[in-house]
Amino acid sequence: MDTFIIQGGNQLNGSVKISGSKNASLPMMAACVLTEEDVILNNVPDLRDIRTMKEILKFLGVTVEQKDTHTVSLNASKLNKNEAPYDLVRKMRASVCLLGPLLARTGSTRISMPGGCVIGPRPVDLHLKGIKGLGASVSIEHGYIKTEGKLYGADIFLGGRFGSSVTATANVLMAACLAKGVTYIESAAQEPEIIALAKMLVKMGAQVEGAGSHVITVKGVQKLHGCEIDVIPDRIETGTFMMAAAATGGKVALINADAKHIRAVTDKLLETGLSLKISSDSIEVERDKPITSADIITLPFPGFPTDLQAQMMALMTNGGGLSVITEKVYPERFMHISELNRMGADIKLETATAIVKGVKKLSGASVMASDLRASAGLVIAGLIAEGETQILRVYHIDRGYEKIEEKLALIGADIKRGKEIEHV
Ligand code: EPZ
Repeated sequence: MDTFIIQGGNQLNGSVKISGSKNASLPMMAACVLTEEDVILNNVPDLRDIRTMKEILKFLGVTVEQKDTHTVSLNASKLNKNEAPYDLVRKMRASVCLLGPLLARTGSTRISMPGGCVIGPRPVDLHLKGIKGLGASVSIEHGYIKTEGKLYGADIFLGGRFGSSVTATANVLMAACLAKGVTYIESAAQEPEIIALAKMLVKMGAQVEGAGSHVITVKGVQKLHGCEIDVIPDRIETGTFMMAAAATGGKVALINADAKHIRAVTDKLLETGLSLKISSDSIEVERDKPITSADIITLPFPGFPTDLQAQMMALMTNGGGLSVITEKVYPERFMHISELNRMGADIKLETATAIVKGVKKLSGASVMASDLRASAGLVIAGLIAEGETQILRVYHIDRGYEKIEEKLALIGADIKRGKEIEHV
């Protein structure tokens, strides 16, 4: 298995090109099954979850053509299955976002229930409620979600215990495009990835209004056509590099970044004393003095994203003072705390709140990546730690970051990919 070996202490300086968004690309790829025509997506990141989605689409009979590293052409005219087996779904939970479009296209689906997840319970009740609301029958049999029936426009409320759901909104939105009548999705997720998906669907001929607000209105149409569209920049990769630069000091320009998508993050980083220069498609981050502590509460968009909580925590281990970080989206998403503490951090967990006391220095150690964003937090910790850090199980990070070690090395980090040595 691959590992990262990091020698900490280098400042980061230079520029980094931000890749296309993973979490926007995945539902946009799933949307290709809504039409028999070509769907061409540009600026798709080259990473593991995207390769998994291509594998699932091929299994369904979709023709997948990689035009160049970041352009993929999808054609679902020969779609010949309506099911996603456990073997494929267990590799990536986001495969559940095929439920809505496949049902709308074929009239029935059999999709494996996604299993447990290290970031805590991740139910799919809102997905099922939304699909039922559109008139389909839904049952769980032998670990599979079975759905069947014609879809009709309806008034559907998608708010859950932890706010709205991003992929449930994507599922209902895609299904409603081909339903008969008008659908109102209330308490819809407002994430930029939902706006991106809605823009794509409109380009395909769908009638969608209100994406980005609490209520999305979809007037069903009979048929959708193909389209070509660019994927938006990855706001979580952007935030991760901002925090890496904030942690090490130096000056880093993030090219192809959209600051409008991470206002809650830029606002917090400014509060810690970081300097930011923002333009329409770039963000320059400069740390010329020690940063201060910050209190964070993760929330659905436009709040502070849960997907940047671990990275912010790694940054705060070195911040002057006490930071309080509360997780309101995945209250159990704290696997990184014990690893950060092994590196000398001082973090205590009280239910869903972490109390982080800034320490003078972290020290390099062997640590274990537990999930995608936790791994990114450990990389940031490794960059500032004294000595060598070895991060095991970096396949987690490869799921969602395109060549992170190469991008970091280009701006001055001492980070290399290696192989884990098995001790017998
Ligand atoms: C999306 O997951 C992202 N994944 C996640 O990114 C991200 O952490 C999450 O949104 C929150 O921003 C993709 O976009 C592919 P949710 P999703 O449904 O849609 C609860 C990453 O690292 N809930 O918005 O699955 C749920 O338990 C990841 O890239 C229900 O209660 O998340 C959570 O508390 C991991 N019932 C909250 O809602 C449901 O049916 C938000 O989850 C669905 C969700």
